[in-house]
Amino acid sequence: MPVLSQRASVLQESAIRKLDLTVMQQKDVHFHRLNIGQPDVATPEPLLDAIASWRPRVIAYGPASGVPAVREAAAQYHSRWAPTLRWTDVAVTTGGSEALLFAFTAICDPGDEILAPEPYYTNYNGFATVAGARIVSIRTHLADGFALPSDEVLDSHVTPRTKAIVFSNPANPTGAVYGRAELERVCAWAKRHDLFVIADEVYRRVWFDAPPTSALELDDFAENVVIIDSLSKTYSACGLRLGFLISRNATLMEKVERLGQARLGPQPLAQAVGLAALSLPESYYDEIRGVYRGRVQKLVEAIDATPGMSTSAPAGAFYCMVDLPVDDADRFARFLVTDFRLDGESVVVAPGGGFYADPAAGRTQIRLAAVRGADEIERAMRILGAALEVYPGRV
Ligand SMILES: Cc1ncc(COP(=O)(O)O)c(C=O)c1O
Repeated sequence: MPVLSQRASVLQESAIRKLDLTVMQQKDVHFHRLNIGQPDVATPEPLLDAIASWRPRVIAYGPASGVPAVREAAAQYHSRWAPTLRWTDVAVTTGGSEALLFAFTAICDPGDEILAPEPYYTNYNGFATVAGARIVSIRTHLADGFALPSDEVLDSHVTPRTKAIVFSNPANPTGAVYGRAELERVCAWAKRHDLFVIADEVYRRVWFDAPPTSALELDDFAENVVIIDSLSKTYSACGLRLGFLISRNATLMEKVERLGQARLGPQPLAQAVGLAALSLPESYYDEIRGVYRGRVQKLVEAIDATPGMSTSAPAGAFYCMVDLPVDDADRFARFLVTDFRLDGESVVVAPGGGFYADPAAGRTQIRLAAVRGADEIERAMRILGAALEVYPGRV
């Protein structure tokens, strides 16, 4: 019997996608998908025009770290936060996902550790496993707005294998938004320990009160900081698979180039679309922020109005972690997909366990994404409320 790798055998299922197959097997059910951060907001016309007018004679490979014009455009776009950024500080990747994988792989040896404030984006587990590394979680708390851990708490999690800290800002799934003082403190802490700070800023444009501070703004820590960015959420272009890894650490970027060479290059069509996206006016970002503010507000209101459910209003990104009166949110999520129907409809949710290193910590939670219009959110929440009333494992 051929034997698979240890790594493959411990690879965690994504909490966001684990029900996909079961959903596909259901017949004649309309599912409201609040499990995945896939907005139904129309992709901006200039991006669709770029696709329509893309007619190369040969669909050729491009350079490993992306076409220079796209790297230049990305550097120009990010110069809002880092005016001195150069195009060589940017590598184009297949989504933020590949940027994360490249960062983890370039930074970690097998057995190394990456700190992550918890709850965290579930796929950090998968990327760490593939890179041979391990996520070491540090619990954060609703009571202080899921603030990044204090220096003392960070110190207590450091081992000789610690190489980096990763977090998203604005944060998925907590909705926390980290400002300058907090970010400076954590970067200074990382610099003292010679660690990397992997700031996952794919939701940088989605905030409601005050904008997040981009780690790009902090010049003193340029050698330590790696930024993850993506077209997916900002331009409602999740399927395009275009992202960026940005760092002013030239040695790291050289290794990222080699990782890029091993997989040849990012998609040329996606890069052509990227050029169109990066030149949208600032007013576009105000507009989408308004759209998500409305949707998140609607979702929070609907959660608050549903007996037994509770959440905290996110300050950014578009997710809510919701506490439920159930024995096991995983089982409840499956019940929704396989058993419960309201007029032929049901809801897909992401069980909370996958957002924690120890799934037991999220056992009674689900994550909901405010990615649909207000009417659909309202309808989906009505279905969820009705399902809770008849769920056999209600506590
Ligand atoms: C925090 C965070 N980082 C990275 C990603 C990866 O996105 P993509 O690969 O589509 O750019 C996601 C997707 O949901 C995310 O939520």
